[in-house]
Amino acid sequence: MPGLTLLHPIHTLDKQLLFPPGALLTKETLDAIIDSHRTRSYQTSPLLSYGSVKQDCLNFLTTPPFLTIFLDRKQIDDLLNLLETIHFPIPILQSLDYFKEYDYYTYTHVLTVFALSTLLAMDLLPDYGERIRLSATGPTHDAGKVCVPLHILKKTTPLTQAERSFLEHHTAAGYVMLGFYYKDIQHLACRVGLNHHERRDRSGYPRGILLEDPMVEIIAACDVYDALIMPRPYRSGAYDNRTALEEITEMAKQNKIGWNVVKALVAHNRKSNPPYTEITVSAEKRGTAPSYNVYGMIAEETDPKDRTG
Ligand SMILES: [Fe+2]
Ligand SMILES: [Fe+2]
Repeated sequence: MPGLTLLHPIHTLDKQLLFPPGALLTKETLDAIIDSHRTRSYQTSPLLSYGSVKQDCLNFLTTPPFLTIFLDRKQIDDLLNLLETIHFPIPILQSLDYFKEYDYYTYTHVLTVFALSTLLAMDLLPDYGERIRLSATGPTHDAGKVCVPLHILKKTTPLTQAERSFLEHHTAAGYVMLGFYYKDIQHLACRVGLNHHERRDRSGYPRGILLEDPMVEIIAACDVYDALIMPRPYRSGAYDNRTALEEITEMAKQNKIGWNVVKALVAHNRKSNPPYTEITVSAEKRGTAPSYNVYGMIAEETDPKDRTG
C-alpha cells in the first residue's frame, strides 16, 4: 500500500511501536518492519482451543438475534470445526483477550462476523478449501482496534473529527499488525483488515478504493449487518432484524455493496433457507431505527487535548 501517511501510531498489543505518527507506509518501510523480526517465531493455536472462544461462539450463535440464521445446530458445528483446522499466531489471538476484557462489543463482533461471513462464503464462493482459508480472516478483521483508544471505541456521544480519524486508523493499523505477525503483508488477513470499510462506489475508507474482492465484500456486509443487529455504545439499542436488512438493502441500491451478499443474508434469515439465487429482495421500507443513534455524526472539537490528528 504505497504512499499512506499515518496520522496515528501503530503498535502491537504489548506496545511495541511499529510506526510513529507521520510515518509513510511504503513497500520498503513495511518490508523493513517485517524483516526486523523475521527470525522470531510465534507459537500458534487454533482459535477454538483458545480461551473460552468455542463456548462464547456457541453462546452468541444460539441466542437472539442470531437464532434464525443459525437454526441448524449442525451448521454451527460445521462452522466451528472449520476453525479447528486454522492456526493463528498467539499474539493475534491475544487481541481477543484484550477485547473480551476491555471492549466486549468488539469481542462478540469479530466472532459473529467470522461465523456470518463463513456462512455467506459457503454460498457465494465456489471452492471449499479456499473458503476455509478465506473465512479465517473474519476473527481478525478489526485487530487494528487495539491501536484505538478505548474511550473512542466506547464513546456514547458523537465523535469529533479527530476521534473519527483515530477510529478509522484501525484499518491501516490492522493491516500492519497482521502483516507483522504473519510476516507477510500480502496475507489475505492484511487485505481484509485494510479494506473491509471500502465500498463499491469508492465512498469508504481508508483509501476510497473500489471494493472488488469477493471475500472482503462478504466481511464488509457482515460487519455492517452485525453492527446493526447488536447493541452499540452510540445508539439506544439494536436495530430489529427487518430494519437491519432494509439498511443493508439500501446499501446495495446505492452500489456500496453487491446484491448477492444481500440476497445471501436475506436467504439465511428465512426459515426455509432457500438458495440465495431464488431471493427477490423487497424494496419496501417498514422498519423503525433506534430512537437515539449518533453514528456518523461529528461533534464540535471543544478540548484541544482531544486533537489527535
Ligand atoms: Fe472495522
Ligand atoms: Fe468490524
